[in-house]
Amino acid sequence: MSALKGKFFSFEGGEGAGKTTQIQLLAQHLRTLGHEVITVREPGGTPDAESLRDLVLGGEPGRWSPKEEMLLMYTARSTLVRTIIQPALARGAWVLSDRFADSTAVYQGMAGGVPMEEIRQLHHLVLGDFNPDITFIMDIEPDSGMRRVHSRAQALNQFELRDDAFYERARAAYLDIAKAEPQRCAVVSAFGSPDEVSARIWEVVKARAGESL
Ligand code: TYD
Repeated sequence: MSALKGKFFSFEGGEGAGKTTQIQLLAQHLRTLGHEVITVREPGGTPDAESLRDLVLGGEPGRWSPKEEMLLMYTARSTLVRTIIQPALARGAWVLSDRFADSTAVYQGMAGGVPMEEIRQLHHLVLGDFNPDITFIMDIEPDSGMRRVHSRAQALNQFELRDDAFYERARAAYLDIAKAEPQRCAVVSAFGSPDEVSARIWEVVKARAGESL
């Protein structure tokens, strides 16, 4: 990844952690400093990957096995990385992604029961050692996260129809990932106003990628 000039940041966390807002705020900030910024979401981010998103998130719960979900997520991820993310990084752009590989580890691995080693092997097969420069783990009490989701008053997809115990376990899984990979991951409290949260994110960007700003 060191051959690429740009920076790649992913944003992870439970539903309602404010990832989308934070990505927009960081993108604006970086653009005012003169950087090219690309924002993408997963699964999705290219027309084909968005079709795969409709396929994997749509329909009844249980339509896909966790392993099938993993394969669809990595198919979408592969085309997104190959056609959008890597070319952007090669020309020096900053890429901000709403979710990336850690979502597969948490949702299909921890929650779905796909063995972590199998997910690691698939990651290596598809992406080699390609990973974000920084992964922001947006940490929030599951209750207030879900309140934000419900206040958006939109149809919940099958992935959002989950109980409190699930959100507690997903949160713990993200914190475990952060503990295992402290160089890549930064846990940021998603509690507070969007400006407060974005100030926390900016501190991490300055500390870890300040030389590229
Ligand atoms: P989305 O509506 O984008 O949710 P959010 O606002 O939480 O990002 O839905 C994406 C859903 O897909 C989310 O519930 C997590 C799930 N997902 C996986 O299960 N595995 C993955 O690898 C990815 C990228 C997402």
